[in-house]
Amino acid sequence: MLLDGQSLEGHLPYTGTWLSTPAITTAETKVPTGPSTWSRIESNIGFWAPIIFMALICIVLWRTMKLMPRTKPQQIKPESKSSIGWAEVAGADEAKAELQEVVEFLREPDRFAKLGATVPKGILLHGPPGTGKTLLAKAVAKESGAEFFSQSAAAFVEMFAGLGAARIRRLFAEARAHRPAVIFIDEIDAVGGERGSDNNSEREQTLNQLLVEMDGFNSTGDLVVIAASNLLDKLDSALLRPGRFDRQIFVSPPDVSGRAAILKVHTRNKPLGDVDLELTARQTAGLTGADLANLANEAAIAAARAHRDKIVQHDFDSALERVVAGMQSRRTLNEHERRVVAFHEAGHALCAELLPGVNRVHKISIVPRGRALGYTLNLPEEDRYLKTREELIDYMTVLLGGRAAEEIVFGAITTGASDDLRRVAEISRSMVHEYAMGTSITSLQVSAEGGAVSDRTRQLRDEEQQHLTDEAMRGAARLITDHRDKLDTLAGALLRNEVLERRDIDRIMDGVPRLYRSPGHGLRVVASRRTR
Ligand SMILES: Nc1ncnc2c1ncn2[C@@H]1O[C@H](COP(=O)(O)OP(=O)(O)OP(=O)(O)O)[C@@H](O)[C@H]1O
Ligand SMILES: [Mg+2]
Repeated sequence: MLLDGQSLEGHLPYTGTWLSTPAITTAETKVPTGPSTWSRIESNIGFWAPIIFMALICIVLWRTMKLMPRTKPQQIKPESKSSIGWAEVAGADEAKAELQEVVEFLREPDRFAKLGATVPKGILLHGPPGTGKTLLAKAVAKESGAEFFSQSAAAFVEMFAGLGAARIRRLFAEARAHRPAVIFIDEIDAVGGERGSDNNSEREQTLNQLLVEMDGFNSTGDLVVIAASNLLDKLDSALLRPGRFDRQIFVSPPDVSGRAAILKVHTRNKPLGDVDLELTARQTAGLTGADLANLANEAAIAAARAHRDKIVQHDFDSALERVVAGMQSRRTLNEHERRVVAFHEAGHALCAELLPGVNRVHKISIVPRGRALGYTLNLPEEDRYLKTREELIDYMTVLLGGRAAEEIVFGAITTGASDDLRRVAEISRSMVHEYAMGTSITSLQVSAEGGAVSDRTRQLRDEEQQHLTDEAMRGAARLITDHRDKLDTLAGALLRNEVLERRDIDRIMDGVPRLYRSPGHGLRVVASRRTR
């Protein structure tokens, strides 16, 4: 121990230097500087490392942000005046009549306001795809002279919660500033689905904002919201209540006169030769406006490819085939496969020619098209809205006629009937589940959608479905064995010519009566009476 003032002499082994220190404090300070530098560096590192680390993170973040796609908030402004007016929309007469009212409200709001009438705030156009909903909304904008703000609802769904709602707010604010205006929200199902059905809080916020905005403007008649959707049942009920989209207009696929009118609209600027649009309209039951527009275009392409300067009926026929059955494919079949396909198609055609409840055959072909190796086109001659049980069974019989023919002629069945079988399953399913057209299920809808179904009902449903398809299969087999000679003639002609038109079929089936059903008896009666 050293007292103050005493000195210490000694040798520090690790430095090799002699020290002479007056006191312990000085002795300590005179210890060589090696370890203290280290500790200083250490403490420096302790101080700087987090700062450098943070700076590195900032640089990395900054670089990543630079690489991210930049999305500027989309500008919302009225669309330039569209060229689509009432004249461009054909066939949808009911929808047009309802929208006409809105156009008048927008044109002369005062006339209605004087009488205390309020304009419907929201109009919801719903219906299958391609029936002209978007087209109708554009026509309203043009005819009313109002500004047209069109947004697809999908554009409101953003990655970050709150952005969609903000866009809705801006959309309504802009539209209010440009009154009179029409806001059109296309494909509203993207945000308008039932709330609580999924956990997408962004979508729900957007929908809530839309509900708030629709409450927020008073109906002075100069701002109207039109929305379009394919699925009305999926929309949130709050959207559909009075005061919001209280007017719902169903835009249905066109009827025969509607189809003729749509074909006229779409052939207005095309040079037509000898074309019967009424005939084409009759052959296209079930097609929508978009299909018909496509048909007219395909016909023009067919005429151009054949170097004609006018479109003729044949172009429409081949376009229809292309639209209904798909493009001709280059698959080549071997001889046996061709025979199987020919008998398969002849089986369909024979059943369709004999049964009373189905459409006549328009054309049979064994030229592969789309996914089909051959096809039989049955085109309806009129629009039908109701079908009887017998007609549906007849239709299934025609569908199964192909497979029955294969089985009877070759004793083996092939995979070629898969599409027919799928359709048979669909029809028999709806017959039992939805329409109660079974043998014991005749007064009760037993589809599972409406609620739980007991095991016994489920089993009964399956059995009923099986009965129906068995009945159709037996019918098809009977028709084919009874008219085997005609089946062979049809198949032979198909193998030679590949395609049979209506007149060829008429020639082959000449003298064979179409069956008829005696009234009052649900059964199909095999009797010989000519109905043609
Ligand atoms: N009634 C119609 N009159 C004339 N053309 C029509 C009609 N309906 C549809 N079309 C044609 O079909 C195209 C598509 O129609 P539109 O976009 O309006 O269908 P949509 O009902 O909005 O379909 P989606 O539900 O798929 O949005 C139109 O551009 C037009 O060429
Ligand atoms: Mg649309």
